[in-house]
Amino acid sequence: MSFKVLYECSKTGARIGELITAHGTVETPVFMPVGTQATVKTMTPEELIEIGAQIVLSNTYHLYLRPGHKLIEKAGGLHRFMNWPRPILTDSGGFQIFSLGNLREITDEGVTFRSHLDGSRHFITPEKAIEIQNSLGADIIMCFDECVPYTCEYEEVVSSVERTAKWAARCKEAHRFPERQLLFGIIQGGIFKDLRHRSTKQILSLDFPGYAIGGLSVGEPKNLMYQVLDYTIPMLPDDKPRYLMGVGSPDCLIEGVIRGIDMFDCVLQTRIARNGTVLTSSGKVVVRNARYSEDFSPLDPECDCYVCRNFTRAYIRHLFKTGEILGLRLTTYHNLYFTVRLMDKIKKAIKENNLAEFRDKFLQKYGYEEK
Ligand code: GUN
Ligand code: ZN
Repeated sequence: MSFKVLYECSKTGARIGELITAHGTVETPVFMPVGTQATVKTMTPEELIEIGAQIVLSNTYHLYLRPGHKLIEKAGGLHRFMNWPRPILTDSGGFQIFSLGNLREITDEGVTFRSHLDGSRHFITPEKAIEIQNSLGADIIMCFDECVPYTCEYEEVVSSVERTAKWAARCKEAHRFPERQLLFGIIQGGIFKDLRHRSTKQILSLDFPGYAIGGLSVGEPKNLMYQVLDYTIPMLPDDKPRYLMGVGSPDCLIEGVIRGIDMFDCVLQTRIARNGTVLTSSGKVVVRNARYSEDFSPLDPECDCYVCRNFTRAYIRHLFKTGEILGLRLTTYHNLYFTVRLMDKIKKAIKENNLAEFRDKFLQKYGYEEK
């Protein structure tokens, strides 16, 4: 289990690397499709492999509540339970629990929350979050952290940074299988430069095999996120993977890689697919719209995925209008294929030392979008 940087771009912070895990090697930079409930919605594992997905992300919070981590352990672990042979990363649940709003209460010991499913009460500590992730058996697991909204006052961010550091130390201590599950530290600090510095120093001092930047893509403008990356990434060691959590729109993927990020995950691709929106080389297309009712061209004329080779916008729009399940499958398949191919193109541009030119050309065609 290790990370190797194979190639560093001479003009930007981008790098090509190899992350070796218990279930195989991941070539970075990488986009991880999200499979919250032990399934990337609408996609079979075979289809994920067909499009070139190397690793998927799943969520501790959801699997702990349903079907329960003990059940998944009985099934032989998450890989066997969902029949996914490649690497898996599980998020710690911190982020999901903090998104519950008034259904939770935080102390230094842990978080008490009510299930969004049945209102039952639960208490999750850093030790418990690791115990659950040890049962699930993902190749990469995450520290239990406190992610605060970006609108938070400075003092609130200070306390979340301090708590995240104390919890990270407890997570490391509680982790039972460091040789087969890589535990990544998470850096918080909101949009405050000195707090990002403080958090980075604290988390680095605990020496994790990889580092995530959390607390971004939580409603702040994209340029603000890029600024945070600009001063945070240079503090991270070159020889460890860097994971930007919850980020993955096409423009953010390129901007992240150019600054030195190696790993991303995002629900955008699969979520917008299910409401009839697809990513294309000329920006988002809401294929559900009436204007596509007689458009017999593919979702993206520049895409060579199974969907674009075989179906038209008019047909896929028809599937959405009639509520047919196939519509969801086709748009999801295309959006994930589009994103995995984009990462391939990014890797190629890094090797050819022209990532900045690639970005300019890509964005000119793709267009600017804040969300
Ligand atoms: N997913 C997106 N952002 C975050 C974060 O700050 N912490 C965790 N644990 N998961 C995330
Ligand atoms: Zn396609």
